[in-house]
Amino acid sequence: MALADVNDTRLAESAAALEELGVRALPVHCDVSSDADVEALRDEVLDAFGHVDVVMNNAGVALLGPPDTLSMEEWDWILQINLVGVIRGIRAFVPHLRHRGRGWVVNTASVAGLYGYAWDTIPYITAKFGVVGLSEGLALYLRPLGVGVSVLCPGLVSSNMGDTARIGGVQDPRQWIQEMPLEEPVTPDVPGRLVCDAIETERFLVLTHPEPIRERIARRGADPDAFLAAQIERLPTPPNLP
Ligand SMILES: NC(=O)c1ccc[n+]([C@@H]2O[C@H](COP(=O)([O-])OP(=O)(O)OC[C@H]3O[C@@H](n4cnc5c(N)ncnc54)[C@H](O)[C@@H]3O)[C@@H](O)[C@H]2O)c1
Repeated sequence: MALADVNDTRLAESAAALEELGVRALPVHCDVSSDADVEALRDEVLDAFGHVDVVMNNAGVALLGPPDTLSMEEWDWILQINLVGVIRGIRAFVPHLRHRGRGWVVNTASVAGLYGYAWDTIPYITAKFGVVGLSEGLALYLRPLGVGVSVLCPGLVSSNMGDTARIGGVQDPRQWIQEMPLEEPVTPDVPGRLVCDAIETERFLVLTHPEPIRERIARRGADPDAFLAAQIERLPTPPNLP
């Protein structure tokens, strides 16, 4: 199994954990915001394994801050990783899967890609909505050609995301940070098992918190205006910054 990450320490730890389980691991340093890195990753993986069965575009970061106060550099940082990183993965690996007429693409989005779940992480929501739309379109394109597509939309998962998260825009976050109502986190093995199951059973949408999320998606689909009004009611009121 090839593993790619920009964090070399975590990459080495994950590769060692896989080797301990008896899985051949190929750790590759890769920044998904670099075209050259993602293309080099593809070349290295194909050299080492000869083919690819499953591509998982999973790298992601979080950016908190009122959207109108974030700099373009901050917007670009998250979009280049969370959205364009997935596009790079598709451009690099999909021709190979398509020519083989088999394989699977899994893109990690979030519940943030299914409905506007909060007002403090709007660049994250923007990127994840993009990943959901990209994945749905990709399924239309690839499934008839023999290649499967799934989109993973987790709710909260305990992970290391806090290490890379940035707070942007406003200097003093105490001016605006408020707690958003979220479901309880699950452990990372939960999305891991669900993704394997989705590939085996050929399903598109993978949810870690299926009941509340399916209910929200259904309400949003039935009446988007009523859903939006209920969300505004449910969330803390944002401060009107100077
Ligand atoms: N943790 C959650 O609650 C949650 C919820 C919904 C969606 N997600 C999504 O799940 C995915 C995995 O996140 P996680 O929660 O496991 O966080 P994590 O920080 O533990 O894992 C993300 C990995 O992406 C890597 N990464 C960051 N920038 C990169 C770059 N430029 N190039 C290559 N790798 C890079 C990090 O080094 C890290 O190892 C992300 O796409 C995230 O948006 C997470």
